[in-house]
Amino acid sequence: MVARRPQGLPSGAPLLLVEDTFAALRDLGAAGRGRSKARIAGITGSVGKTGVKEALALVLSRQEATHASVGSFNNHWGVPLSLARLPPSATFAIFEMGMNHAGEITPLTTLVRPHVAAVTTVEAVHLENFASVEDIADAKAEIFAGLEPGGAAVLNCDNPHFDRLVQRAREAGVGRIVAFGRSPAAEARLIATDEDDLGSRIEADVMGTRLSFHVGVPGSHWAGNALCVLACTALVGADVGAAAAALADLRPPKGRGLRTRVRLKSGDFELIDDSYNASPPSMRASFEVLGRSRPGVGGRRIAVLGDMLELGSGSGRLHAGLAPALIENRIDQVYTAGPMSAFLRDALPPSMRAGHAGSSAELAPLVAAAVGAGDVVAVKGSAGSRMRLVVEALLALDRSEPAGEAGAQAGTAAGSRGY
Ligand SMILES: Nc1ncnc2c1ncn2[C@@H]1O[C@H](COP(=O)(O)OP(=O)(O)OP(=O)(O)O)[C@@H](O)[C@H]1O
Ligand SMILES: [Mg+2]
Repeated sequence: MVARRPQGLPSGAPLLLVEDTFAALRDLGAAGRGRSKARIAGITGSVGKTGVKEALALVLSRQEATHASVGSFNNHWGVPLSLARLPPSATFAIFEMGMNHAGEITPLTTLVRPHVAAVTTVEAVHLENFASVEDIADAKAEIFAGLEPGGAAVLNCDNPHFDRLVQRAREAGVGRIVAFGRSPAAEARLIATDEDDLGSRIEADVMGTRLSFHVGVPGSHWAGNALCVLACTALVGADVGAAAAALADLRPPKGRGLRTRVRLKSGDFELIDDSYNASPPSMRASFEVLGRSRPGVGGRRIAVLGDMLELGSGSGRLHAGLAPALIENRIDQVYTAGPMSAFLRDALPPSMRAGHAGSSAELAPLVAAAVGAGDVVAVKGSAGSRMRLVVEALLALDRSEPAGEAGAQAGTAAGSRGY
């Protein structure tokens, strides 16, 4: 689809010539939506959109044909593109919707026209363009504007902005609001969790169905995410018991907590690659997972942290504010990269400061030289901080046999840990 015929293409090239490619992509998305009979869930929130979207896609696709946005295709390009790809045969569809500014979700949700609109959580993320977290909550609440008549909102009652979102949902005419969380009043209610470093066992009551299930992704934040997924499952009309059972098969994707064992001459260390994304709440979630990990004999819990971006003028304070969470979770060593992370380094006790560099490229060799057998190393930062370079440097230390040869095993850097 082009606005101008590109030079040098053969005359019969299949081009769709339009006046305005952006308007045409929206039209294509609207047409994809218009022909669909799918029950549709729209997901927004400050963190956990992709995680919840992927988990919902996993559980629903085990039951019926399900379509979901790819990756974080959640903006004015990604949403219409994802709708344009919606196959007419899909019974369920899930669309992620994101924003950096007020007013961005309204045109997305009116295109998606979801039957269920979920807000995972509201946090001080993307503060750069907002005066307050309340304003962020209001921007997330725009998702209700597109709800189909009779549609439902799924909201996190453990979040301080819950009441505000409920009010906004009511103002938008939403009749059905399902709360998820620990509160006894929640319709999707967390009763108990038992966590280990590989995931959680969860007891819950989801809209009258008592459930006991395992989630295959570690971190207490996943209890809330799982309840959000199951509330959406019920509201699109799928089987909640089967969905809960399927959550055991959930795995963290690359860059969002994927674990790999890296084999050194002296023994293995474990790498947790969380380099795709970072914000204060997801940093804390990641420290908690690292805190629960079990280093081998002589091993340490090491956090390698890059800058969190888009936090606006309070950024230095928000970076420094992570120090207590690192201490509470018994992280032994903290490496930092970038100008904002320097505020965090300065807020740490000297015994925890392992090294700092201006950029991830400069930090990578320091970390690679320092890791040893038994360590658990978590690497995290906003994608723009390029902490991926540290992950690559650590993976390059692997001394496993090449894949396919006798010595290669799943569970080394050749593949991810087998869970
Ligand atoms: N409920 C939650 N609370 C805190 N952190 C979370 C929660 N859910 C996921 N995370 C963490 O937040 C990070 C981002 O997760 P995810 O990619 O799902 O978010 P997203 O909202 O899709 O982000 P983006 O705005 O980049 O699309 C990951 O490190 C993930 O582990
Ligand atoms: Mg995302």
